[in-house]
Amino acid sequence: MQIRNLWKLVGGVAFASVAVSGLIVSQKLLRNDEVFYRTFALPLLHRLDPETAHRLAIKCASLGLVPRQSTEDPAELVTTVFKQKFSNPIGLAAGFDKHAEAINDLLQMGFGFIEIGSVTPLPQAGNPKPRIFRLIEDRAIINRYGFNSDGHEIVAQKLEKWHKNRGRENSSGIVGINLGKNKLSDSAVEDYVKGIQAIGKYADYLVINVSSPNTPGLRALQKKEELQTIITQISIEREKLKNKPALLIKLAPDLTVQDKKDIADVILKERRNVDGLVISNTTVRRPNCLTSVSKSEAGGLSGPPLREMATKTIYDMYRLTEGKIPIIGVGGVQSGEDAYEKIRAGASLIQVLTALTYNGPSIIQKIKADLVTLLRQDGFKSVEEAVGIDHRRQ
Ligand SMILES: Cc1cc2nc3c(=O)[nH]c(=O)nc-3n(C[C@H](O)[C@H](O)[C@H](O)COP(=O)(O)O)c2cc1C
Repeated sequence: MQIRNLWKLVGGVAFASVAVSGLIVSQKLLRNDEVFYRTFALPLLHRLDPETAHRLAIKCASLGLVPRQSTEDPAELVTTVFKQKFSNPIGLAAGFDKHAEAINDLLQMGFGFIEIGSVTPLPQAGNPKPRIFRLIEDRAIINRYGFNSDGHEIVAQKLEKWHKNRGRENSSGIVGINLGKNKLSDSAVEDYVKGIQAIGKYADYLVINVSSPNTPGLRALQKKEELQTIITQISIEREKLKNKPALLIKLAPDLTVQDKKDIADVILKERRNVDGLVISNTTVRRPNCLTSVSKSEAGGLSGPPLREMATKTIYDMYRLTEGKIPIIGVGGVQSGEDAYEKIRAGASLIQVLTALTYNGPSIIQKIKADLVTLLRQDGFKSVEEAVGIDHRRQ
């Protein structure tokens, strides 16, 4: 009898400690405690294999176990792009919430916008695991997910649910949808058209992803004729939608000078049909600066080693399109300075992904705060004033 009571007591104490620890951990997670993330949560996540850590991060976000920004963004950060108002220019890049599992919670972390996807028409498993690698010393990632996707039907159900609650308090923010193609599909154009038909109505902007390095043949769609065909078809489909989402094309950082000129020609000609560019996707190059053991894994490289290549592509495309096409700048941004560099090169909005996995959610506030300081230092009253300023100062 006494032993049974003892066990009950031990069980009770164990349960209480787990509950209290859970409460403390969730409080810390919710309060965006930078020290807690740096010393506890991130090292713990980094003990898991990267894909499990990614899944866990999405799960936590979908359960609301992420910090929420409680204050409004400073006036300097409010910006209007594609005729839509962004509370701040820092967004979450495609690839983090691929299946639209945590839209509201991610937005409430302080992002001005998030991009879900890439989503393919039919569900597909993607490449065999392991397919994502941390390059710790380089603070970079190589991924070869290969468009693992729940497919349009399932993602549409989640988007519909989110869309219904959209008007409610705390659920504002811009949402982009990034469209991909199935590996075994014969027609990329048809897959993009299907994407617009199936989930375009939920999007504030749509991204046609022709630049992922992990789907055979995809990047060849950046060639002049192919791009022209895609734009013609998808813009017809977009016109059929009531919400008329902005239409963007996502480019690789590995384009030749001629590729960039050709793309700019097509985009300028199709100015009425293309609202923007996302620059850039991951790179297939492996810069000499890489030191991590996983540097030779196949796939797309992201994070700081991509930063300069992406910024150069933004700079070139802004110049070639005469500053007429808004650009979302992405690639290796991990500070306010990095974001500002891309804005000065021609980006109107910025996205991050890899930096979030190395720094945790506090990086969002840090980038925004530092960006405001830099804008003020240079006498700019808004992000818009600084967009492309490097081209005008030369
Ligand atoms: C794990 C992972 C998955 C990604 N998946 C996609 C994707 O499905 N579609 C896409 O357009 N880009 C994808 N990307 C590319 C990112 O959107 C972004 O362009 C790239 O990572 C550069 O930004 P970063 O250096 O801030 O990570 C992915 C990147 C990573 C690291």
